[in-house]
Amino acid sequence: MKLLVTGGAGFIGSAVVRRAIADGHSVVNLDALTYAACLDNVASVADSPAYAFEHVDIRDRAALDRVFAAHDPDAVMHLAAESHVDRSIDGPGTFVETNVMGTFHMLEAARAYWTRAGRPEAFRFHHISTDEVFGSLPADPAVQFTETTPYDPRSPYSASKASSDHLVRAWAETYGLPVVLTNCSNNYGPFHFPEKLVPVIILNALAGKPLPIYGDGSNVRDWLYVEDHAEALLLVVQQGAVGRSYNIGGENERSNLKLVQTLCAILDDKRPKQGGSYADQITFVTDRPGHDARYAIDPSRIREELGWRPSVTVEEGLARTVQWYLDNEDWWRALQSRDGVGKRLGTG
Ligand SMILES: NC(=O)c1ccc[n+]([C@@H]2O[C@H](COP(=O)([O-])OP(=O)(O)OC[C@H]3O[C@@H](n4cnc5c(N)ncnc54)[C@H](O)[C@@H]3O)[C@@H](O)[C@H]2O)c1
Repeated sequence: MKLLVTGGAGFIGSAVVRRAIADGHSVVNLDALTYAACLDNVASVADSPAYAFEHVDIRDRAALDRVFAAHDPDAVMHLAAESHVDRSIDGPGTFVETNVMGTFHMLEAARAYWTRAGRPEAFRFHHISTDEVFGSLPADPAVQFTETTPYDPRSPYSASKASSDHLVRAWAETYGLPVVLTNCSNNYGPFHFPEKLVPVIILNALAGKPLPIYGDGSNVRDWLYVEDHAEALLLVVQQGAVGRSYNIGGENERSNLKLVQTLCAILDDKRPKQGGSYADQITFVTDRPGHDARYAIDPSRIREELGWRPSVTVEEGLARTVQWYLDNEDWWRALQSRDGVGKRLGTG
């Protein structure tokens, strides 16, 4: 397949690009290269004849039309977005512009291209979204997000993603555009931008700095290894039923405190520190405003319909992730000097 991947220089998009090329697909990576992007994430495939890069902003409709015409994709995998909840609290405007208006322009450019091509049934517009659109769950482990859970976004980020999901469904109903949607839980893994929780903990631990945990650390997330997620996304774009959405989770619920303690134990093993444990550096900081208590995905649909399950436990995935950060210091040191990295964001 020829895939047009938006946001392919980001964390999840680059995992999709690397995996798609390894699987024999052609990829056009469309990315505006915001603060969150890093072309080193795709350096391993950049010389492949199956890879092309387009430095384009999804809010630029004329540029999108040019990219569709030039590359003739079989499917779009739309990941480009502003993705950091804390940044959405500090500056919600960009989230509306990119996540809502950018998705609108992507849908319109895709629709024009698909209509010109005679509305091929095989075309897909795959919209990648988040479980945060469903709001916050109670502690009861029997309650999880399914594909029919009502939307209840509570941050500017999740509200902008929910809006984009609604636009995608409307373009399917109104214009017949063949779409698929996925809503996934928190990702972690290699190439994760160093202001997100898992890399912050690893890198602060190594630097001897405090390990900040919001509130009392009881917020629960369902942790999904990014390479498992990329595999699931490529399965959905090829085999997902048109118009359907799939929840993708890691089957790995952990409180933030437990997650940080696990990371500390892995670091104690791989890079022992003198005179104690990295867990001694844990510090509780004022909570994020509107911090959702719990997210948990019921992954039955993707498991039963497409036969997909995550391949790693959170312990295995975190051990691989810690090792990757230990082995790739040049990568994260270069990103640590970027705007906002290392500062407390999203205090409201
Ligand atoms: N990271 C997670 O845990 C997670 C969980 C659920 C869903 N998601 C969704 O997955 C997608 C990818 O997330 P991520 O963590 O890889 O994000 P990221 O912030 O690491 O990467 C986003 C990429 O999009 C690009 N981009 C941003 N604005 C753009 C614009 N206007 N035009 C073109 N490119 C633009 C950036 O340059 C960057 O390369 C997002 O849609 C996000 O909402 C992420």
